[in-house]
Amino acid sequence: LELDLINAIGSAESVAAVEEVRVAALGKSGSVSGLLKGMGALSPDARREQGPLINGLRDRVSAAIAARKAELEADELDARLLAERVDLTLPPRPRRKGGVHPTMQVMDEMVAIFAEMGFAVAEGPDVEDDFHNFTALNFPPKHPAREMHDTFFLKPDPQTGERKVLRTHTSPVQVRTMMSQQPPIRIIAPGRTFRKDSDATHTPMFHQIEGLVIDRDIHMGHLKTTLQTFIGRFFELDEVQARFRPHHFPFTEPSAEMDIRCDRSGGQLTFNTGDDWLEILGCGMVHPNVLSACGLDPNEWQGFAFGMGVDRLAMLKYGVPDLRPMFDADTRWLAHYGFSA
Ligand code: PHE
Repeated sequence: LELDLINAIGSAESVAAVEEVRVAALGKSGSVSGLLKGMGALSPDARREQGPLINGLRDRVSAAIAARKAELEADELDARLLAERVDLTLPPRPRRKGGVHPTMQVMDEMVAIFAEMGFAVAEGPDVEDDFHNFTALNFPPKHPAREMHDTFFLKPDPQTGERKVLRTHTSPVQVRTMMSQQPPIRIIAPGRTFRKDSDATHTPMFHQIEGLVIDRDIHMGHLKTTLQTFIGRFFELDEVQARFRPHHFPFTEPSAEMDIRCDRSGGQLTFNTGDDWLEILGCGMVHPNVLSACGLDPNEWQGFAFGMGVDRLAMLKYGVPDLRPMFDADTRWLAHYGFSA
């Protein structure tokens, strides 16, 4: 029996196989345990003789099992250490840091330029009412911009029937500022805006910066110089070749769109070269109806206002062809345009 057990232990190739042998020999109904139990039935003399032999057998088998187990465990550990070896010569994986979103980086740049020019930052809510988004801004009651296809309307209030809107531009902040503050006013209002629109250059949520200056004797010359100075700093141009093309906005009169001269041939957009004109923002002199709606006397106060798309200017400055990936949070795209932290 002893020889058989020692052989079985020696040829067990895993800790589990050794355990099987242990159960077969030393377990409750194991062969060695059987001998130990059988001792009770022996005569005292026979027990005195057999006892030490059987106990010795048990001790040697236990010792052999423990030794084989230790050996196999050491082998298994060696194998694991080999398989899970860490290559300390590999370079560390770069740690991924969060970063400021490209739109917010550009917005911060713009705000910094205007701050240097003496503008304060004003803010308003994303969810607006009809009065601030349209009526006070001199939108006629049937103006197409109020219609469903442009504007996101919220569910009407069950009591009043009032339908709030997601602001379609930052111009309602003009209204809020004029109604809460006495002139002279010099503010910019950066923020989110919403329109039902989606293509390569439009997303349903986008960003604008609004500007408003109200004082005595303000005229178009102030408007032009302010915007030319800003655009020059933003695009890092010494001089800006701009034109103010007549346009229409309900809240300004006269109204204009500002274009800057550029060259779009050869894939690369460059400013102050070529004969192309690129529209970059809307502006104008604040309409007397808007001043009146906000409680200011148009005979005493004049002002100018402008509004521009932050994402669009970011696209132009950084040569991004499609606006939509801007809001997809694809880190490869962000890294490609140098926007990752
Ligand atoms: N609110 C206009 C728009 O969203 C931009 C604008 C602002 C035009 C202020 C003139 C004056 O298109």
